Amino acid sequence: MEKYKFIGPIKQLLSMDGLPLKGALKDEELPIIENAGILTKGEHIHIIGNYNEIQQIANSVDAEIIQLQSDYVCLPGFIDAHTHICFSGSRANDYAMRNSGKSYLEIAKAGGGIWDTVTNTRTASQEELCHSVIKRANYLLKNGITTVEVKSGYGLSIAEELKMLRAIKEANLNLESDLVSTCLAAHMLPRDYNGTHEEYLNDITTNLFPTLITEKLTKRIDAFVEQSAFSKQNIKPYFNKAIEMGFDITVHADQFTTSGSEIAVEINAVSADHLEASTDLEIKMLAESDVISVALPGASIGLGCDFTPARKILDAGGALAIASDWNPGSAPMGDLLTQACILGTFEKLSNTEVLAGITTRAAAALKLDDRGKLAPKMIADFCFFSTNNYNEILYHQGKLTPNQVWKRGDLVYSK
Ligand code: NIG
Ligand code: FE
Repeated sequence: MEKYKFIGPIKQLLSMDGLPLKGALKDEELPIIENAGILTKGEHIHIIGNYNEIQQIANSVDAEIIQLQSDYVCLPGFIDAHTHICFSGSRANDYAMRNSGKSYLEIAKAGGGIWDTVTNTRTASQEELCHSVIKRANYLLKNGITTVEVKSGYGLSIAEELKMLRAIKEANLNLESDLVSTCLAAHMLPRDYNGTHEEYLNDITTNLFPTLITEKLTKRIDAFVEQSAFSKQNIKPYFNKAIEMGFDITVHADQFTTSGSEIAVEINAVSADHLEASTDLEIKMLAESDVISVALPGASIGLGCDFTPARKILDAGGALAIASDWNPGSAPMGDLLTQACILGTFEKLSNTEVLAGITTRAAAALKLDDRGKLAPKMIADFCFFSTNNYNEILYHQGKLTPNQVWKRGDLVYSK
C-alpha cells in the first residue's frame, strides 16, 4: 500500500504546469498557487491545490501530515540537463593560463585541455569515478537539483568509455537523485588512436554501441561537432547509425563555430546544446524544429565567452532549457541556479523563462515526461525556498538555496 503525505501550507507553489514548450514566456503566465498543499502518494504527486481544500482529501486517505511552520516557495526539483560530472583531476592551471591570455593551442601544448582530463580519468578506477559522481550529484541535490544528466567522454576508448558509463550507472543506484547518462565517446579524436576520425567513429558504433544496449548503460549519444573535434560530415553517419540502433541524439553544437545545430535539426536530435556561436540563421532553424536549445551559461562564465543568444532563441519561438555543463575545463563552477540567474540578467529573460529552463523545459531536453512540473502523476520531486515571494529566488543570484529538497515523495535534504 502506497502511503500518502500531505505537505503544507505553502505560501506560493509554482507548479510550472501548463506552460508552452516553445517561445517567450511572460511572468504573468507563471502558474502560482497561493496557500497551497501537496498530497503525495508513494513516489508521485496525487494532488496539488489549495491547502484547505486538499486537507479534507488528505484526511480521508489518512495521509501523514507534514505541517510547514513558516513561509516557503515550492518549485519542482530542478533538472540539470547537461553535465560532465564523471571525471578525475582539476584543470585549475588551464583556467589560470586562459585568464592570463594564453591561447587554446598554448594550453593544449602545456598539457591542458580535454586530453588532460582524459589522462586523469583513465588513471581512476571505476569505483573512484563512481564516488566522484556521487559526491558531485549530492552537492547538486542540496541546490535543489533532483535529476542530473551525466556524460562520458573522458575515456575515449571502448574500455574507458565503458568504465565511465558503468561508474555512472553504479552511482545512480547509490543516489537519491536520478542520473540520466549519455555516451560522449565522440568528444574528440583520442590522441593515442591510430586512425582517422571516420575509423574511430566506426570503431565506436561497431564495438561500443552494442554493449551500451546489452548492459543498459545509456539511451543517449552525444558528439562534439566542432573544428577541433568532429565535422558535420564525419558525424552524420555516426548519428544515423545510433538512431538506427534506437538511441536518442544530443549535440554539442555551435560552441565556437556553427554547423552542429544544422546537423541537430537535420537528424531531429532531442537537443542542441551550447549555441554560443549561433547566428540568426541557426536560431531560426532551431526555432522551426522540435530540437530543444540548451544554453550553458557556466561555459560562457568559465571561458569568458559570449552567452548563448537565449533571448533571440525564445523570441524566434524556440524551446530553451538551461544547464550547467559542469566539467573540469570550460565550466568548473557547477552551480546551475547561479548560472541560470546570470544568464537571465544578461539575456533579459523573464523569471518564468529562467525557471522553465531548469524545470519543465529541461525535462523536455532529456525527453522525460514524468517530471519538471508539479501535477498529478508526476514524480514527487520538489524543493522549498524559505521566502514568501518567488522573485527572491532569482534575485539572490543563486545564494538563496533550498531549505528542503524532496525526491520521489521523501524529504532527502533539509537545512
Ligand atoms: O561542454 N565543448 C566540449 N566539451 C565540454 C568541455 C569539456 C572540457 O573542456 O573538458 C563542454 O564545454
Ligand atoms: Fe558539455
